[in-house]
Amino acid sequence: MTETPPARTPDETSLTLTQFMQPEHSNSLGNVHGGVILKLCDECGGIIAARHARHPCVTVTVDSVTFLQPVMLGRLLLVHGRITWVGRTSIEVEIRVEAENLLTGQVFHTNSAYFVYVALDDERNPAEVPPLLLETEEARTRFAQGEVRRQRRLERREQSK
Ligand SMILES: CC(C)(COP(=O)(O)OP(=O)(O)OC[C@H]1O[C@@H](n2cnc3c(N)ncnc32)[C@H](O)[C@@H]1OP(=O)(O)O)[C@@H](O)C(=O)NCCC(=O)NCCS
Repeated sequence: MTETPPARTPDETSLTLTQFMQPEHSNSLGNVHGGVILKLCDECGGIIAARHARHPCVTVTVDSVTFLQPVMLGRLLLVHGRITWVGRTSIEVEIRVEAENLLTGQVFHTNSAYFVYVALDDERNPAEVPPLLLETEEARTRFAQGEVRRQRRLERREQSK
């Protein structure tokens, strides 16, 4: 049996994925397709979760996503991810997406969302993950807020059964 890795701070696993938005990322209106952005969000969150767990992680749920404004082709998409909450086998990652206009330097907030992952063992059963090391007041507050969101999600899961 493999040992559970030691607790990690959110900073140790946080990540920013960047992708230059090209014609292949377009929808029929000529802006960036929302699905492309969501895929990058899930990829960013999944990498962060696996980095924390040191296990493969699958997405179990995503909180609602609102696109605040369209992203134009030619923008640099910045997908920032950070762990906010960790349970026994599940991990919540906060994702914030920004679009940078390379010609002006302006950066726009595009959307934010919480993605939840479950770590899997070799038999593809949920695997225990290391605790989150909460060294700052901000990290403790975010964790407490994550606990509230988790309760709501589990209630929703019960209702949808
Ligand atoms: C993820 C999966 C293995 C969990 O299986 P499960 O039988 O629900 O397992 P459990 O009930 O033991 O839950 C495991 C963890 O997920 C959490 N969880 C499960 N459903 C959840 C939901 N809807 N919202 C939030 N957390 C949830 C549980 O609270 C538990 O967390 P904890 O250990 O930190 O307390 C299973 O649901 C699955 O395989 N889903 C498909 C995942 C996938 O393929 N995703 C890619 C998209 S196709």
